[in-house]
Amino acid sequence: MDFSEILKKRRAVNFFDPARDVDQNLLKKIIEEAGNAPSSYNLQPWKIKIVRDMDRKEALRKLAFNQPKVTEAPVVLIMLADREGWKIDAPTVESTFNDFVKSGKMQADQKEWFSGVTQGLYGSDEMSSQAFANKNTGLFAMSLMYAATANGLESHPMDGFDHEGVRKEFNIPDRYWIPMLIAIGHLNPGTEIQPKGWRQSFEEMIIE
Ligand SMILES: Cc1cc2nc3c(=O)[nH]c(=O)nc-3n(C[C@H](O)[C@H](O)[C@H](O)COP(=O)(O)O)c2cc1C
Repeated sequence: MDFSEILKKRRAVNFFDPARDVDQNLLKKIIEEAGNAPSSYNLQPWKIKIVRDMDRKEALRKLAFNQPKVTEAPVVLIMLADREGWKIDAPTVESTFNDFVKSGKMQADQKEWFSGVTQGLYGSDEMSSQAFANKNTGLFAMSLMYAATANGLESHPMDGFDHEGVRKEFNIPDRYWIPMLIAIGHLNPGTEIQPKGWRQSFEEMIIE
């Protein structure tokens, strides 16, 4: 499938086959493929909580306005956007900085300078750190959904859930925002995918 086909084929599927699991190795493959997503300074401020256990999916479904796909899909991913993923002591920042030094993009004595840059861009107020975490995790999430399509799986992003309820139920630390859940699985046989909804034309998307 070429990428144009993947773009057209991906849909937010409502009816998953509860009898068909997603192999953990395949899930690992699509998550790693999605890891090729771009991010600010390559800081990759995202994590995922994988929910497979039916008891946990039932708890999640209750917090997601009882959306049936939460328990029907074999896997639901809780996407986590790290609002502190720009701080110099974040492990991802450490790895990014070391990588920059190794590749000659930065000098070893520039760590404090780099810390100042990321603080200035992404940590000056709450809105900046929210935007930093969520824009990057959104790109990662989109890559993950396309990777799912490319690997023969269906997906469904959801932001219809009680954010603080999910945080509490799944012990999500305060540094993370939860931009969305993503259900992953196979289409329930016999279910028809609804026709695609309208999309803006080129002219509608462009503003002067
Ligand atoms: C961030 C995000 C959150 C969404 N949340 C929900 C949701 O909670 N429940 C739902 O049924 N659909 C949800 N959707 C699915 C959209 O309704 C769907 O993507 C849109 O109608 C376009 O359809 P398509 O993805 O099949 O092309 C969400 C989509 C996105 C991107």
